[in-house]
Parts: sequence; structure tokens; C-alpha cells
Amino acid sequence: MYAVGRWTDRAFRVERLAVCTMRYASFLSDSPPVSTLGLGLWPLTGAMGSIDAEAAKSTIAAAIERGITFFDASRTAPVSEELLGQVIRGDQRHELVLATKAYPGERFESLRTTVEKSLRALRSDYIDLFQLQGWYPQMPIEQVIIDAQKLVSEGKIRHLGVCNFDASVLESALRGGPVATNALELNLLQRAAEEEDLAACARQDVAVIAHSALAKGLLSGRYRAGHTFADDDERARFSDVAKRLDDGQLDQLVAVADAAAHPLPELAIAWLISRPTVAVTLVGAKHPDQVEQNCRAVELALDGDLMAKLDGVTA
Ligand SMILES: NC(=O)c1ccc[n+]([C@@H]2O[C@H](COP(=O)([O-])OP(=O)(O)OC[C@H]3O[C@@H](n4cnc5c(N)ncnc54)[C@H](OP(=O)(O)O)[C@@H]3O)[C@@H](O)[C@H]2O)c1
Repeated sequence: MYAVGRWTDRAFRVERLAVCTMRYASFLSDSPPVSTLGLGLWPLTGAMGSIDAEAAKSTIAAAIERGITFFDASRTAPVSEELLGQVIRGDQRHELVLATKAYPGERFESLRTTVEKSLRALRSDYIDLFQLQGWYPQMPIEQVIIDAQKLVSEGKIRHLGVCNFDASVLESALRGGPVATNALELNLLQRAAEEEDLAACARQDVAVIAHSALAKGLLSGRYRAGHTFADDDERARFSDVAKRLDDGQLDQLVAVADAAAHPLPELAIAWLISRPTVAVTLVGAKHPDQVEQNCRAVELALDGDLMAKLDGVTA
């Protein structure tokens, strides 16, 4: 059972910052404590606008320095795994929880091949958490989980997770074997998972990883109605991004943040971290300064009044 009651705090002394505190829970057996704030590698792949390799590496290094232990890569963009493999030193590996994910192939061999490619890119002989991003209708999800468990038995994967599984699919998946985590899109602007999926995970003892915690950067408060993202940024092609920029909720959230004298990204992250049903809040970043600010949210306790104001905008 993952339990947020068992969080422990550790303070880190880091450059330019006196002390920052990170919070951990041990909910993955045989893995080190998992930081409540995880670093998502997606923006470091260039998918959300170009980024140079050195900036990407220093962002990962900053996260390690600030006590983040959970890193989320993806086989869809192998560079995310390669960057982790390049930055993480051998003596750091056993303190970190490396997660990656992929769409499973139709046959067991293809999932094995995928995992072996991830291992090579990560320069590791195990993956702490391998997440299935979906399944092919030709093969029942139960069977995919049964097959994937063979890789757990062999030690290539320590834990199996899934992504964006709704309550009924999760139930089917669990008939195939243990599923440690379900990564769900959840943030102040996207709360559909609250309807059923969070409760389903809690019932089944599946830890929730809340992904896209800043709504792809919209909850930075920097982008407003009419903003145009560059052509090399996937956000230029997402219709829901344009819709959210226009619908007024973001403006209201910025107003709440201004009145509370807290930056909106910190509030948005703290809002997720404070939720007992969320085990890891996964935030992407492109620069060490963003990591530094996001870590500050771990220490931010939202009072009931502020929580109600934030909830009131988008509930
Ligand atoms: N399992 C799944 O199916 C799934 C799906 C999606 C994502 N994910 C995971 O979730 C992670 C997080 O999602 P995401 O990276 O797509 O989006 P996100 O975390 O919602 O937003 C990340 C973006 O927010 C901006 N940002 C971050 N910190 C900031 C700060 N302190 N101040 C201002 N801006 C800040 C940066 O973009 P700009 O500076 O360019 O604005 C950054 O690229 C991903 O990296 C990935 O690991 C998983």
C-alpha cells in the first residue's frame, strides 16, 4: 500500500539556495524512496521547442542536486532515456527511481526488445518502473500484463505501471498481475481524473502519478489568450491548449496567485502535492531555474482558503 502518511523530509543545501526540502515516500518495493516531485523528461526531448543538450543535462543534474529521485522518460523519444544515461553517475544510480514508458507491441518479443533498448539507452541493467502507455486490441490487456510480468521476474523491470488507464481498463489489467502505478493527467486545468480514476487507483492500491502538472506550461501563467507557440513546439498543434488559453480560467488562476503573492506554477504544483491520492507530481522543465522554483512548491502549504479559491476556479 502506498501511503502518503509515511512521507519523510530531507533538506538539501544547494548552490544559490540556502536549503530546500524534498519529501519522499517508499511505495515501490526494492526501489529507493520516491520524491513527491518528479522530473518529466518530455520537454528535454525538444518536443516543446528546441533545447540544447547541455541545457537538458544541466536541468537533470539540478533535479538530482535538489533531491528529486523520480525521473520519467519515454521510449517514444529515446533521447529522454539517453540523457538520463549520460547524466546519472554510476554511484547515483541506486538512489534514483528511473521510469520510462512505451506502447507494447503485439507479441511478447517486441515488448522485450523495447525494454532492452530502454536499458541500453539508460545505461542501466534494470528499470525501476516500466509503464505501458496502452495496448493493442488484438491482445487482451490481461495478457499484456502477464507477459510483461516475465520481464519483472527476470529483473529487467522492477515494477510495472500503466498510463492513462481508466477505472475499467485498470481493473482488467489487474487481472493479469500487479500494477504499481497509473500515470494520469491531472492539474488545475484538467481534472477529469477526479471523477472516477483517482478513487479506482486508491481502491486497488495503485499509486497515482499526476502528469502534465503545469498543463504543458500553461500554469506557468506566462502564456495568455492569443499566444502563438513556435512551429517546433507541439503546443502549437494542440487544440485544447488554445482552448484553455482562451476560456478565462487561466486568467482567474493568475488573479488568485497574484492576490496570494505566490507564483502560479508553485501553487499549481503544491495543489497536486497536497492531495492524498497523488503519490508523485510529475513536472517537466527546460532549465535548472524552473527545477529550483518547482522544488519550492514542496514546502508550500496551502491553507484552506487558498485551496478553496483555486478549486473554485476549475472544479
Ligand atoms: N504517462 C503519460 O501518458 C504522460 C503524458 C504526458 C506527460 N507525461 C509526463 O509528465 C511530464 C510532465 O508533463 P509535461 O512535461 O508534458 O508538461 P508540464 O509539466 O505540464 O509542463 C512543463 C513545461 O512547463 C514549463 N515550466 C516548468 N516549470 C516552470 C516554472 N517553474 N516556471 C515557468 N514555466 C515552467 C516549461 O515549459 P516552457 O518554459 O516552454 O513554457 C516546461 O516545459 C512529462 O515530461 C512526462 O514525463 C506522461
